[in-house]
Amino acid sequence: MGDRRHPELGSADIDVDRYGVALRYEPDPDRFSGTVTITGILAAATDRIAFDCDGPAVTSVQLDGTSAAFEHEGDELLIPLDGPRAAGEPFEVEIAFNSDIAGGDEFVDAGVFPGFRHLGVWAVNEPDGVSTWMPVNDHPTDKAAWTFDVTVPEGLTAVANGVFLGSAPAADGVTWTWGQSEPMASYLVTTLIGPYEIRDGGTSSTGVDLVHVVLDDRTDTLDPYLAVTDEQLAFFAERFGPYPFDRYGLALADSVPGLAMETQGLSLFSALDFDGSLGYVQHLLLAHELAHQWFGNAVSPAQWDDIWLNEGFATYAEWMWLDHVGLQSLDAAAEDALTALDAGGGPVRRPDELFSDVSYRGGAAALEALRRTVGDEAFMAGVRAWVQERVDSVGTTDEFVASMERISGVDLDAWEAAWLDAALLPDRLPPERIAG
Ligand code: TRP
Ligand code: ZN
Repeated sequence: MGDRRHPELGSADIDVDRYGVALRYEPDPDRFSGTVTITGILAAATDRIAFDCDGPAVTSVQLDGTSAAFEHEGDELLIPLDGPRAAGEPFEVEIAFNSDIAGGDEFVDAGVFPGFRHLGVWAVNEPDGVSTWMPVNDHPTDKAAWTFDVTVPEGLTAVANGVFLGSAPAADGVTWTWGQSEPMASYLVTTLIGPYEIRDGGTSSTGVDLVHVVLDDRTDTLDPYLAVTDEQLAFFAERFGPYPFDRYGLALADSVPGLAMETQGLSLFSALDFDGSLGYVQHLLLAHELAHQWFGNAVSPAQWDDIWLNEGFATYAEWMWLDHVGLQSLDAAAEDALTALDAGGGPVRRPDELFSDVSYRGGAAALEALRRTVGDEAFMAGVRAWVQERVDSVGTTDEFVASMERISGVDLDAWEAAWLDAALLPDRLPPERIAG
């Protein structure tokens, strides 16, 4: 896809419409076998299609319904077409594969992992983890609809993104079916298998369908988070525009503590961090992952360098919420961030590391500086317009700056130079803009 940070990811020659994922999970040793059926159109004239496939062992490929040759070289799966095809032509590929599920107690790299304490699996795929266990066009610029049929041994539950469409007995187990019809970037795929209960949470006060996932021996730990989630859905919708998907939920997963992920429509938290207590950490994580549904999921980064548009906004939303509930003032959070960021970490627009403080607190401080530069009203109007214009799509940092300039009428060259491009962030925030 031409991503500077991840040149290996994605192919610009295809535009995937839909992934039909059929997985079978076998414990001991943990592994998946399955097929993924990928339908789409060619975005450019080509005589072969490529998918990211950095781990799965591919056993067979069907192209438009007939068995086809393939080459699996390193992290690329190449499928030659029967000759050159023009841009706009449709394709359907079915890939059969087997994948090992990496062991270990530490979260080392994105991908799929065995349950922390129970039989099963969980996944955190951002930015390039999906292709370690399933062939995929692994770049956020190619969003698609997804269906998941996940077969697991009797007694386990399988959860994925979207609507729960039911479970049915299968050979040696039960197949759980989920469907995600809104466009979704591949890094937002969730796959949870384990002793989970799927909990209908009714409808939020803002009209969002709620479905939560919780370990079946810890169902009592969910309750403290329901009221705050309802309030946050209203708080953020008022500020960012309507919640961008049909449903939301919390998954309190059997995953490593300290890690959370904004998996689309069903944010993932560790059951060990969400033990029933509701303090600063839980408020912060709940706000952060929910805000990502607007910033990251509805509007995704056009390239991984734009990660601050995800993490900066999610952190800024944390600050707004902590300020709202009186746990920490937004001013204090922003001042602390600048002190902590003395040591650098690269410019916000091109951080040394994707998930470092510069993307999170640096990006959030840049947004607070922007709010002070254009004024509160223009800032919130600009943020709402940004989401509304790019929902189900992607955006770049340049586009964000241009959009903010258009809506506020303020020249943002100086802000951009100081807060996005400089290797070190300014050591203080600008004063509030005086209205008028
Ligand atoms: N996007 C996640 C969050 O901030 C964090 C995350 C995803 C992450 N993948 C990661 C952090 C890999 C470190 C490494 O909510
Ligand atoms: Zn985040």
